[in-house]
Amino acid sequence: MSPLPATDQRAWLTRPVESGSAAGFGVYLHVPFCHHRCGYCDFATAAVGDREPADVDALYDRYVTALTTDLARQVAAGRRAHVPAAVRGELDDAWPAVTSVFIGGGTPTLLGGARLTEVMAAVRRELDVVAQAEVTVECNPETASPELFDALVAAGVTRVSMGAQSFAPHVLRTLERGHTSDRPIEAAAQARAAGMAGVNLDLIFGTPGETDDDWRMTLERVLTAGVDHVSAYALTIHDNTAFGRAVSRGTMPDVDDDLQRDRFDVAREILGGGGFDHYEISNWALGPARHSRHNRLYWRHGDYLGIGVGAHAHQSGRRRWTTRSTDRYLATVAAGEDPVTGSEELTDQERAEERLMLGLRLRDGLHPGDLPPIDALALEEAMDAGLVETSCGRLRCTDDGWFLLDEAVGRLV
Ligand SMILES: C[S@@+](CC[C@H](N)C(=O)[O-])C[C@H]1O[C@@H](n2cnc3c(N)ncnc32)[C@H](O)[C@@H]1O
Ligand code: SF4
Repeated sequence: MSPLPATDQRAWLTRPVESGSAAGFGVYLHVPFCHHRCGYCDFATAAVGDREPADVDALYDRYVTALTTDLARQVAAGRRAHVPAAVRGELDDAWPAVTSVFIGGGTPTLLGGARLTEVMAAVRRELDVVAQAEVTVECNPETASPELFDALVAAGVTRVSMGAQSFAPHVLRTLERGHTSDRPIEAAAQARAAGMAGVNLDLIFGTPGETDDDWRMTLERVLTAGVDHVSAYALTIHDNTAFGRAVSRGTMPDVDDDLQRDRFDVAREILGGGGFDHYEISNWALGPARHSRHNRLYWRHGDYLGIGVGAHAHQSGRRRWTTRSTDRYLATVAAGEDPVTGSEELTDQERAEERLMLGLRLRDGLHPGDLPPIDALALEEAMDAGLVETSCGRLRCTDDGWFLLDEAVGRLV
């Protein structure tokens, strides 16, 4: 038996309750620049630390021009696609109201307050950003200052997300981080003093050489940082990074799954003990009001625009992504062309898999009205295997299921 009446097997797509179009609408803008590319990172980044300051300034100006031009074009193209020809030009509301904006990277704060203000002004000019929208900017602790946070707050930024990674100096060195272990806490205090409503610190666990005590100390220090949100990620080794190459040469050990599971449990214990609610596999917050609304949109399979280098967009099962090369992005936009390099239209089956894979990352799982049809026997077997559970009709992962998410979803679809 399916959780949905046979007559309305597509209601999870056409009339979602919390997911899809019911989850809000977001804008993601990618800023690829970093001083140095950390050995573990495979985000779309361009290291600028070795370039002349005047060249870097000119590059940032060109990038902001490209970003705002690309945004204006994509918004206009979307209007043309959505609005019937008869009323084109009269309607200004073909795009949903924006409930969250995320300026990510890379290190967006390298652009400085004035350029980020220009980017936010462009988003507000092109789209209807709701008054209560969450606006997040990613920030590297060494690029932060009280003046920068003042400028961001004045530009309507409500939240900053900073990479702290670890408070153990030797782990920071392994991760090739350029800041001291005290700097993220100092920067978080500066953000708070400027009136930033939300402050997140990112942590990484399972770095080679990190001890259990290093990780416990890191978590205990994060509790003293005055932040309302913590993201803690298990170190992932990507082939195309310095760490990936070191692992394949045999000069760095690969990640140890059992150790990462232990570290994850320690994070749950210490952050939970500090009043943080573990609301998504890698994310903790001081209560529901502090959950990341933009990331929740992703986990709820929502719709969002993606602007900039290597940015992904999703609208009702249609995905598109842009080039990961900053030079190509700048040249393409300057030539008046679309920097898209790929797109796909997902089948209902693929959307079902995605809905489950993303929604089960959240502690509260999926609302029954948002669940794709699931075979009753498959559900029973996944429950018997201890991977998922149901509560008030919601489907969610067990703690073990969170660690075996691929298997849990594989059994359900
Ligand atoms: C775009 S970066 C954060 C912003 C800023 N550039 C910084 O590093 O401070 C997003 C976060 O992803 C996490 N991350 C990146 N690569 C990772 C990897 N290979 N394994 C685990 N976490 C990773 C880090 O915690 C990082 O802070
Ligand atoms: S972790 Fe942050 S600073 Fe390091 S390369 Fe990635 S985006 Fe840049």
